[in-house]
Amino acid sequence: MFDFDNLAGFFLRQLVRFYITTPIYYVNAQPHLGHAYTTIVNDVLTRYHQLINCECYFLTGTDEHGDKIVRAAQKAGQSPESYVDYVSSLFKAAWPKLSINNDDFIRTTEERHKKAVAQFLNLVEKNGDVYFGEYGGHYCFGCERFYTEKELVDGLCPDHQTKPEFIAEKNYFFRMSNYQDWLIDYINQRPDFIRPERYRNEVLGFLRDPLEDLCISRPKSRLIWGIDLPFDNNFVTYVWFDALINYISALGWPDGQLFAKFWPAAHHTIAKDILKPHAIFWPTMLKSAGVDIYKHLNVHGYWRIGASKMSKSVGNVVEALTMADKYGSEAFRYFLMREMNFGLDSDFSEDRLVGRFNSDLANDLGNLWQRSLTMVQKFSPYLGGFEELEAQSDDQSWGQRIEKLIEDYQKAFEAVDPRGALQAVWEWIGLLNKTIDEEAPWLLAKDPLKKERLKAVLKRLLDALALIGALIWPVMPLTGEAIWRRLGLDHSQIKLSKAIKFMPSSSFKDPKTLEVGSAFFPRIEAQEPTIESSKGQEEYNGATDALTSQISFEDFKKIDLRVAKIIKAEKIKKSDKLIKLTLSLGLEERTVVAGIGQFYSPDNLIGLLVIAATNLAPVKLMGIESKGMVLASSAQGHLALLTVSSEVPVGSKVS
Ligand code: MSP
Repeated sequence: MFDFDNLAGFFLRQLVRFYITTPIYYVNAQPHLGHAYTTIVNDVLTRYHQLINCECYFLTGTDEHGDKIVRAAQKAGQSPESYVDYVSSLFKAAWPKLSINNDDFIRTTEERHKKAVAQFLNLVEKNGDVYFGEYGGHYCFGCERFYTEKELVDGLCPDHQTKPEFIAEKNYFFRMSNYQDWLIDYINQRPDFIRPERYRNEVLGFLRDPLEDLCISRPKSRLIWGIDLPFDNNFVTYVWFDALINYISALGWPDGQLFAKFWPAAHHTIAKDILKPHAIFWPTMLKSAGVDIYKHLNVHGYWRIGASKMSKSVGNVVEALTMADKYGSEAFRYFLMREMNFGLDSDFSEDRLVGRFNSDLANDLGNLWQRSLTMVQKFSPYLGGFEELEAQSDDQSWGQRIEKLIEDYQKAFEAVDPRGALQAVWEWIGLLNKTIDEEAPWLLAKDPLKKERLKAVLKRLLDALALIGALIWPVMPLTGEAIWRRLGLDHSQIKLSKAIKFMPSSSFKDPKTLEVGSAFFPRIEAQEPTIESSKGQEEYNGATDALTSQISFEDFKKIDLRVAKIIKAEKIKKSDKLIKLTLSLGLEERTVVAGIGQFYSPDNLIGLLVIAATNLAPVKLMGIESKGMVLASSAQGHLALLTVSSEVPVGSKVS
């Protein structure tokens, strides 16, 4: 018998603590998909840690000072005070609707925060890291920061594509440059301090150039909406210097109990847009004030809609909550976690959300539940309870498969890869659905000699569902809890160790108490999308974007790729690039015009097995109708046709 007790004991990690933060969001925009994603990721990571018995603390909040907030308030015809109260309340109200369960919500206009900022500034000043000086620079109001000439792109802010204003004024500066060498060493010694690695490399890249000191004040003649500098009340604190301190002010720094307990386990989650303040300003500020450095910076990519980067300032804001209302917060959370490869950009489309809903939730998970529970209810009068189970010859491999699932799942979460964790669970759901087909319980029920096997198969399905309920709980808490409730388990106490402990002990004693219930995710039939899909939008340029843009498997399946043999090839007159190919696809022949003339001579192509996309709409090239396309890869001025590594029949599908 597989030793499940041993495996369950592994998760009793009560002593480990976990503190996680989102950026505090500017209140110049309503909550949107980007904010929702980061906050959901944090909720998911928190719940994962709760699932394995860690003690957790999850902080989010709003960033309410600075020029840009004043401008937004003016635009709304309100005072900054009433404006920030209103928008902050929208953020606060948005999160519970998405099952986000944060422990605290900090606002930078709160007294507790202002007090901590003043204390922090005093420490930095006492340590000799603040000086008064004059500075002239290109100031972007959207970013609330000065840009150097070098950082501007064609004279414009790279993020907002607006022309910054040149401002020269006297201000206070933080000697950030003093900490450059220390920071480089610190990052070099901790490979997972900033992750994924691409962002660590990006930061080390910034640090190759000399670090400038940071301007940390704004004169009150220009801005009053901020926290006074404790050592000169003619100035307010620069908004980033103020905002970053929220991560400790909320814990009651310097002597709050929460600070002592959770700060050593601090994880910050951000998107790539605010990497520099978090990876450079914040650690050097902490170092100067003598506060320990946070543990991890987890950086994700951007959600894009259509062809544009979706953000507060570039426009095209998505009403994330309408999608959650339309399809339910559970499916919305699942989609966001399943679709984005943490660290890379992703395209949001409603079509894709519906695709995932139908295939992963309605089909894979929904069917597994319905089939399993219906069979248990149908066959249990014949079987009796599950107390006495005979050992099965494949108990060991069943246990090992579960062990592998949990290992993959945990590894993924420990590496901040919710998508990988879900992939591991869905791989297993697929396997269980296949097992039902192979074991065919309805046939086992017809053979009295197979009664014990039937019992074991059904018991395993119930165990598996309890485990699935626990494993999906971080991402879909309501569904995970409903699964446990319907199985007659205590859904208020979902823990991985418990889910595993059910396996050897027969907790499902009376199958009659199980509730099949209505379908968890009834299929969505095609309907009018409310959000434009990204189909047909212009493509992104640049290697990073090309690597990061993703399509669903449904979309990928739409391309009919076949193995084809080139049976004729001739150069097209007046073109040195185009070659007219005749392809054999087994049952048919067709003409394809390919732009490969500079790399292949027609004679060398005859007989070659290539990969052709066969269902593309025909196009005319140099007067010849081309019905499809052959696949090739090109880089650094070289091009190679794709082919197969061993002989397969012409016309075979490529999948
Ligand atoms: N107030 C600062 C953060 C201060 S933290 C000490 C700020 N606020 S923000 O409202 O602009 O939020 C930026 C964050 O929102 C991003 O880092 C990310 O977490 C989230 N997102 C905003 N747009 C996004 C996307 N399009 N995609 C994914 N997340 C993005 O910067």
